[in-house]
Amino acid sequence: MYLSREEERILAGEEGEARRLALSVIVKVGEALGAERLIPIKHAHVSGASYSTVGEAGRRFIEDLARMGARFSVPTTVNPVGVDTEDPGRVPVRYTREYLRGQKAILDSFRSMGAELILTCTPYYTHIPRRAGLGPGSHVAWGESSAVVYGNSFLGLRTNREGGPLALMAGIAGRTYYQGLHTPEGRRPIVEVRVEYGPLDEAEAGVLGEALAEYTPHGGVPLVRARIASEPGLRELAAAVGTAGDLGMIHLEGVTPERPDTGGIVERVTIDRGEMAERMEKVAPTGRPDIVYIGCPHAGISDLELLERELRRLGKPRSRVLVSTSRHVYMEALRRGLIAKLTSYGVEFVRDTCLIVSPFRDASVSVATNSYKAYFYLSRKGVRAGLAPIPRLVESAR
Ligand code: F3S
Repeated sequence: MYLSREEERILAGEEGEARRLALSVIVKVGEALGAERLIPIKHAHVSGASYSTVGEAGRRFIEDLARMGARFSVPTTVNPVGVDTEDPGRVPVRYTREYLRGQKAILDSFRSMGAELILTCTPYYTHIPRRAGLGPGSHVAWGESSAVVYGNSFLGLRTNREGGPLALMAGIAGRTYYQGLHTPEGRRPIVEVRVEYGPLDEAEAGVLGEALAEYTPHGGVPLVRARIASEPGLRELAAAVGTAGDLGMIHLEGVTPERPDTGGIVERVTIDRGEMAERMEKVAPTGRPDIVYIGCPHAGISDLELLERELRRLGKPRSRVLVSTSRHVYMEALRRGLIAKLTSYGVEFVRDTCLIVSPFRDASVSVATNSYKAYFYLSRKGVRAGLAPIPRLVESAR
């Protein structure tokens, strides 16, 4: 791999052991994948921050890095953790003291390395894109799969689907390997999927994501001709694509801010109304759920506005309604008076975390959600889960 003078200096340990270690990991992975050079990044977003996900081994690894004097050399933000850091009682979980201690140690280590603890999987709904100067063509290293697909597909960012540790190393090294979705070739669609039915609501968009993961060969990029009804639908589509397969990007006609090179398309698939209906039927909730769950990935303002409209229309729900969102969006919703209105209907909020990366695992309750990703992981945790858009969730909660 070609290395600049500065990169050689870092590898020689002239900028400290932590930076040397971080860059050597990036170089090794890049070489294994055939990268010929590195590329500077403008921002890193680190996942694998929840104590539920990384456990004691992860805590020790992150703490060791911090002790070694590691510092992020580009603006770096952190994904949700296992707890609402201001009010752990908001999550329907009984935390052990050991859990809270472990989670705090992880957060303290990230803070000491200079990370901004936004603790959300939707950094694109915060001040981060503006502050880090991110726009179409910006190279970043993001570790949260839903954000990776959203960033590549709808913001024109360039990022591979980094595992948590690799985004962490890239943030310390300030660069990553130039390969895959960083390159024009890596972003060429290889399959075209046309959806003959739409516009799709956010639950249908999630199910489309599942289909795209099935129809696109390993690690490829699909060109998608579909109509998605709203921005939350894009977020749910991105999250589902990242959940159901290993894709890091889709080209969505009319939305993705770059012109696809269609010369490499080898297969064309059509999804009709019948296929969508069949897929939706398989995941539909039944009866009144114990919990309506919204906010995976973390809810944005428009989700909260829609939820408030539907609650106003249909009245106070009998099911528990739980929303996970970022502290940033929560503050904005507070300013707009949305939190007051929603809490008057009994809506509960968790920030910094979600039902998936917290230790929530209550197999005795049923959960209905508008997120394919939440549906997928809650089902895996043994929770009875179903998928439907917000108006139908509110309807079913009465
Ligand atoms: Fe975010 Fe948790 Fe879903 S981290 S993408 S809300 S699983």
